[in-house]
Amino acid sequence: MTNSSTTNVLQKQNYLIPITKRPELCFMRGAGHYLFDQNDKGYLDWIQGWAVNTLGHSPEVMQQALIKQSAQLINPSPAFYNQPMLELAELLCENSRFDQVFFTNSGAEANEGAIKLARKWGQKNKGGAFKIITFQYSFHGRTLATMSATGKEAFAPLFEPKVSGFTKVPYNDLAATESAIDDQTVAIMLELIQGEAGVIPADAEFVAGLDALCKQHNLLLIVDEVQTGIGRTGSLFAYQQYQAEPHIMTLGKGLGGGVPIAAMVIDKAVSCFDYGDQGGTYNGNPLMCAVSAAVLHEVLAEGFMAQVNRVSEYFCQQLSELAKEFGLGATRGKGLLLAINTGNYSGPQIVELARDAGLLLNAPREDSLRFMPALTLTEKEVDEGIALLAAVLTTLKKSAL
Ligand SMILES: Cc1ncc(COP(=O)(O)O)c(C=O)c1O
Repeated sequence: MTNSSTTNVLQKQNYLIPITKRPELCFMRGAGHYLFDQNDKGYLDWIQGWAVNTLGHSPEVMQQALIKQSAQLINPSPAFYNQPMLELAELLCENSRFDQVFFTNSGAEANEGAIKLARKWGQKNKGGAFKIITFQYSFHGRTLATMSATGKEAFAPLFEPKVSGFTKVPYNDLAATESAIDDQTVAIMLELIQGEAGVIPADAEFVAGLDALCKQHNLLLIVDEVQTGIGRTGSLFAYQQYQAEPHIMTLGKGLGGGVPIAAMVIDKAVSCFDYGDQGGTYNGNPLMCAVSAAVLHEVLAEGFMAQVNRVSEYFCQQLSELAKEFGLGATRGKGLLLAINTGNYSGPQIVELARDAGLLLNAPREDSLRFMPALTLTEKEVDEGIALLAAVLTTLKKSAL
């Protein structure tokens, strides 16, 4: 594309309601681990749609599923069953501890469903209990109820009055959680790794303790696996690495591998919606369900998760070498949801320089970088990305002298 048409593409940005600061780039195509901008410059992508593109950009299996399903049936309405919806629901239930699924279009909407289900369950089974304990610095979405559930400090003053009934306590603090429980409490909801907060894993004892508290007080345990689900942390679902029997799990992001689909997956013992309580025009549409099923079949294939874990280990080793060389801090996270403390360097500044150098990264905090590559990552891309990052850090180190 010529420079003048490049300018034209970006001029059209004025037609969008500004909701975030975007760099002066317009991505035109993607292939596997790479994105290409309006000038056809390639970038190694370790953001991947924000931990969404499970198999990378435009994988063949997703293309084929889209073509096949779009020729067959796009939307018969949510009032009818369709075959991909049934197949995907079965796949999710048969590969987890859960029994039933409600499909949505976004993670926030899945969490909204979980909040509604918990409240309904409280009405029916717990004398109208409705309060949900959530955690400081958590992130559950941008609908009004999920922003109210979210523990991100910047959300606190926004869009008041919020939806009431969320008690926020410090993460990984079992004693504080226990003291927050009262007669009106119906559920505890958490991310097993707080992603937006900077990739902070829940401690094993904390989660086991929450599970015990839920059993003791007859509360629902809700795990928000929108970011951690579908292989991201090295197991199909993150809860499988903990001693816990959650009643509700929400999924999004990686479930669609890049297309908008999310889900609330539940233990049938807590299934209590009456007809009309929950629904939505696009929920469970065959087009998205067919693509999601194609993604899930890949993730469930023999050897897929083993390779995720192998490459995760290699990635962590390379990050710790980098940390030694440049005085960075510890690596944290699991599977391919990783972060590193940037020591004296500014995370956002590294992100900007890395982008210029052809590497897309995210800094969830001033002092951290987050890595959320496609799960098909290999040692080759790790080496390439680490070399780019090392070059950026070398420049910063020199400029600080
Ligand atoms: C843990 C978690 N829950 C919920 C959401 C919201 O998902 P969506 O943006 O699809 O509404 C996110 C998005 O980042 C998330 O990380």
